[in-house]
Amino acid sequence: MKYVGTKNIETNRLFLRKLTVEDAYNAFKNWCNKDNVDKYVLWKKHETVDITLKQYENWVLEYENPKTFRWIVELKENKEVIGTIDVSTKFLQYGTCEIGYCYGDEFWNKGYATESLRAVIKYLFEEADAELICAEYMSNNPASGKVMEKSGMKYEGILRSRVVDKDNKRNDLISYSITKEEYFNSKSCK
Ligand SMILES: CC(C)(COP(=O)(O)OP(=O)(O)OC[C@H]1O[C@@H](n2cnc3c(N)ncnc32)[C@H](O)[C@@H]1OP(=O)(O)O)[C@@H](O)C(=O)NCCC(=O)NCCS
Repeated sequence: MKYVGTKNIETNRLFLRKLTVEDAYNAFKNWCNKDNVDKYVLWKKHETVDITLKQYENWVLEYENPKTFRWIVELKENKEVIGTIDVSTKFLQYGTCEIGYCYGDEFWNKGYATESLRAVIKYLFEEADAELICAEYMSNNPASGKVMEKSGMKYEGILRSRVVDKDNKRNDLISYSITKEEYFNSKSCK
């Protein structure tokens, strides 16, 4: 794994870049404070913008560590920020990148999550020399599984009863991944 950090990534419609503290206001408005988003994530909805501001202040400091891979996703057409995508540091030392992402509900079902996940997968394999990219979603969130599938990841299995969801029920996590070999083989077939 090469710790190349959070460099800018451009796709057809999106610009992925380091977030700033000022982004916290729009992040709060577009996703951190949304009930629709809250039911699919393990973190708690932000009740006040101060919570988002504090988080973004901490996240900006984390960029000093080159192991930090965390982008805010901006629409090229109007510079609106629509979500974030990041990599957990949990297994990074093994070249294993566990991805997390979240988008505001106004921007769902337009292919944006897939467009940015594909770009981040490309970046992690081609520039950061990752070995494996993986992600998990709760069984109440099939749209997220669709994003993983459309990005070339393969179904791995179910982590039974792994978490407690926002209805206070134990919920399974469904796991997807793509290896370096699968990624480069799929590219050479195109
Ligand atoms: C899950 C999430 C990232 C999807 O983002 P998105 O930008 O809408 O994703 P895309 O548009 O790229 O793809 C969504 C796909 O899911 C499909 N989909 C939407 N709702 C669905 C549902 N209830 N069941 C099955 N598929 C569904 C869409 O039709 C689309 O597939 P298609 O392109 O084949 O039509 C977004 O809803 C989100 O951020 N949710 C809240 C936070 C979250 O869930 N984070 C991930 C935690 S693992």
